Amino acid sequence: MLPTARPEVQALIEEVIALRRDFHRHPELGFEEVRTSAKVAQFLRESGLEPREGIAKTGVCALIEGPVDGPTLMLRADMDALPILEETDLEFASQVPGKMHACGHDLHTAILLGTARILQGMKARLKGRVKLIFQPAEEGPGGAWPMIEQGILQNPKVDYALGLHLWSDLPCGHVAIQSGPVMAAADTFQVLIHGKGGHAAYPHESADPIVAAAALIGAMQTVISRRTNPFDTAVLSVTQIRGGSADNVIPERVEFSGTIRSFQQPVRDFLVAQLQEMVPNFCKAYGVEGEFHFHQGYPPLINHPVPTGWVEQAVKKLGLPRAVQATMGGEDMAYYLQEVPGAFFFLGAAPAAKERTFPHHHPKFQLDERAVPLAMELFLRCVEECLCTE
Ligand code: NI
Repeated sequence: MLPTARPEVQALIEEVIALRRDFHRHPELGFEEVRTSAKVAQFLRESGLEPREGIAKTGVCALIEGPVDGPTLMLRADMDALPILEETDLEFASQVPGKMHACGHDLHTAILLGTARILQGMKARLKGRVKLIFQPAEEGPGGAWPMIEQGILQNPKVDYALGLHLWSDLPCGHVAIQSGPVMAAADTFQVLIHGKGGHAAYPHESADPIVAAAALIGAMQTVISRRTNPFDTAVLSVTQIRGGSADNVIPERVEFSGTIRSFQQPVRDFLVAQLQEMVPNFCKAYGVEGEFHFHQGYPPLINHPVPTGWVEQAVKKLGLPRAVQATMGGEDMAYYLQEVPGAFFFLGAAPAAKERTFPHHHPKFQLDERAVPLAMELFLRCVEECLCTE
């Protein structure tokens, strides 16, 4: 039995779900959220707010100010969909072939809109301000950083930030919130190996980049299993490999690439330094030349204890079950949390029927809309914890 939300939330559920389904039918990829952000701005205006549009292309921001001065709490939603062909049988499935809301950002956007309307109605109680932001391109290349570059954390200066992700493999209504690292730094790398091509029957006249690549890929795993402190969590996955064009030819070069995930900046720096040293030296032993290129992705997402405490209080007062959820996935909310104390939490929204549960980014991905009022209620209670205390 899920707890019930306040009457203001209940009165809005239908409208918020209709909005969500509309976003779901019309998914837009990162920085192309033109229709979505226009709808967002329209709903905010209809709620009596004065949204600012066009931040980092399609981002939207609105401010709700209470009568008494106090801190500024930012609530964030992401609006973008993924380049996936939807395979659900939902009545509101994507109408755009090859694009799909397969991560729940349609729900995040609708939930924050509903929350905004209720907050506008209770602003007389606020000691401070709520800044609502709807950002583009969370799935890549990342909308949070350009929003920050365009001053989203200023005017007024944001003191705290909160964000939420609905989660498909947590039971509906369960909340995962914890202080410290909860999502990983999501970096990528590329390795280029230059050898000397030649006839496959005369390997001694070549420098074979394929044998070197095969050995190097295995050896790279030892950077985590042998060189990294076992108490530090990290992942290294090689995900693409290219080289060669014929069965009887040793190629000139091989390239491969992949991702590195870690939770802490020192671990991240250590891994990169190790690989930068290992790749060229290892290749030298095979008579080929190796280059390691590192591409920095989203930083690790680290929750601050103070806003984490508000979420914990909200969860407790609502009587929702707690869950544990830390993931090696990445999330660009991390950029805001590098700048201001904040918290990011997961609300379970697994479909009631087990056969309908699929991982995020799956073509059959779906979420239980019963999480909608709970999400709104959680945001409202966090605002109350932060801005309505006596
Ligand atoms: Ni997501």
